[in-house]
Amino acid sequence: MKKILIINGPNLNMLGRREPGIYGKSSFDDFLPKLQARYPDVQIDYYQSNIEGELIDKMQEVGFGDCDGIVLNAGAYTHTSVALQDCIRSLQCPVIEVHISNVHQREEFRHKSMISCACKGVICGFGLDSYRLAIEALKELRVEN
Ligand code: DQA
Repeated sequence: MKKILIINGPNLNMLGRREPGIYGKSSFDDFLPKLQARYPDVQIDYYQSNIEGELIDKMQEVGFGDCDGIVLNAGAYTHTSVALQDCIRSLQCPVIEVHISNVHQREEFRHKSMISCACKGVICGFGLDSYRLAIEALKELRVEN
């Protein structure tokens, strides 16, 4: 059974309450069991932190053989964090960058991602369905290196 970890960064614990016009009305806690039910053949675990170093600690913990892939929404750290980029580069498992909103339709500072270059791929703009699309991508991925 494939094991995938979804990691949400800062402010994504506020989904459902945070700018619902952009991020939707569903909390992640409501969404996650539906996603897990849709993929009974995949173990989908979840971690959220508002703290950059904790995101790195978690990726280092699971990224060397403990899971088959990481779905990462790094929130605002996407646009700033060299440390996250370095961490993703070091891991043995693929990381898919996701965003709920289409960051390219938004403010210019959101157009630049510090982590895309280290990720296997990027999915953005499909609301919470972005996470499902990333699971689909990881499910199909052949084991490399
Ligand atoms: C986000 C987009 C980021 O620009 C923003 O800082 C977030 C959420 C998204 O999922 O659309 O926190 O990653």
